[in-house]
Amino acid sequence: MTGIICGTGSYAPSYIMGNNDIAKLVETSDEWIQERTGVVRRHIIREETTVSMASKAGLRALRDAGVSPEEIDLILVSTISSNVIIPCAACEVQKELGAVNATCFDLSAACTGFVLAYNTAAAYLACGIYRTALVIGSESLSNLTNWKDRGTCILFGDGAGAAVMKASDQKFYLPVTHSEGAKGVALTCKSRHDCNGLTTELRTESMLDQEYFMQMDGQAVFKFAVKKVPEVVKEVLKRNRISQQEIDWYILHQANRRIVEAVAKRLDEPIEKFPMNLQEYGNTSSASIPILLDELKKDGRLKSGQKIVLAGFGAGLTWGAAMIEWQ
Ligand code: COA
Repeated sequence: MTGIICGTGSYAPSYIMGNNDIAKLVETSDEWIQERTGVVRRHIIREETTVSMASKAGLRALRDAGVSPEEIDLILVSTISSNVIIPCAACEVQKELGAVNATCFDLSAACTGFVLAYNTAAAYLACGIYRTALVIGSESLSNLTNWKDRGTCILFGDGAGAAVMKASDQKFYLPVTHSEGAKGVALTCKSRHDCNGLTTELRTESMLDQEYFMQMDGQAVFKFAVKKVPEVVKEVLKRNRISQQEIDWYILHQANRRIVEAVAKRLDEPIEKFPMNLQEYGNTSSASIPILLDELKKDGRLKSGQKIVLAGFGAGLTWGAAMIEWQ
C-alpha cells in the first residue's frame, strides 16, 4: 500500500513585485537578481493570508481530483508562516472547505516541508489509518522578510500548492530524509509578525528587532544545498533500486536557479529534467514543490507511469527526497 497523488491545485496572489520594485527598496538591480538567482518576479499577499491561500489551493486540488471535502480524512498543512498560531492552519482550512471528517494538523520544516508532509501522508495512507489526504504547502514569507536586507528580500515570495492523495495498493517507495540542527544558524527567524495589508516599507518599519526577520548566511545555504541535494537524490534512488535513467523529472524546491543547475550538473543529468518556475514566484518555501507539480500537471508534462523525484532542502537544516510514480 501507499498514497498516490490524484489531484493538484495552487494559488498565487495577484499582486506582483518585479525585481525593479525590489530595487526601489534596496541597492540591487534586476540584472544582479536574475543572474545570481534566476528570480524575475514574485507574488506577494495583499488581502490573502497563509490560510486563505491554503484553502484556495486545497479546493482547487479537490476539484481536480473529483473528491468532496467530506471524503478527506487528513488535512496536513506545511507552513512556517501561518497567520494563526492556534488553531493550526490545517483546522482553519478544514473550516473553510467544510472537510468535517478530517483530522488536521500542521507541519513545520521550512523548505523541506512539503516533502515531509507528502511522506507523512503517504505513511498514514499506506498503513490504512486514513484513506484520503489533502496535503498543502502554504507560505506568506513576505511577512518574515526584512525588506531592507538585500541578501534575503530578493529571494522570497508568497503562494500555496496542494495535492490530494489516496490510498493505493501500488508499491511504496521509501523516502530518504535528514536533519542537522547543529547547522541551523545558517537560516533563522525568531518570530512571526502579522503585517498583512502593510506596504513592504511599513512592514520593516513596524518591526522592532531585525532578528525577528529571516536571517541567512546565503553562501553557507548555497553550499549546503548543492552538496546535500545530489547526495539525497542518489540515496533515494539507491534505496528503491531505481537508476537515474528511469527518472523522468526531478522536482526540486525552487530556491535559486544556480542551485538547480548545480544539482543537475553534479548528477550528470540534463537540465531539461529539472523543471523550474522560480522566475515567476521566487522561493515560496514549502509551497514551491506543490505549485510546480500543479503547473506540470496542468500543462500536460506529467504522464502516467513517469517516475519523479521530489527533493526539498532548507532551514533546520533539513533536506530530503521522495519518489513518486505518476498516475
Ligand atoms: N544586489 C546586489 N549586490 C548584492 C546583493 C543584491 N541583492 N546581495 C549581495 N550583493 C553583493 C554583496 O555585497 C557582494 O559584494 P562584494 O563582492 O562587494 O562584497 C557581492 O554581491 C556577492 O555577494 P555574495 O553574498 O557572495 O553573493 P552570492 O553569489 O552568494 O549570492 C545569494 C547571494 C543570496 C543569492 C546566494 O548566496 C544564494 O542564493 N544562496 C542560497 C540562498 C537560499 O536559497 N536560501 C533558501 C534556501 S531554502
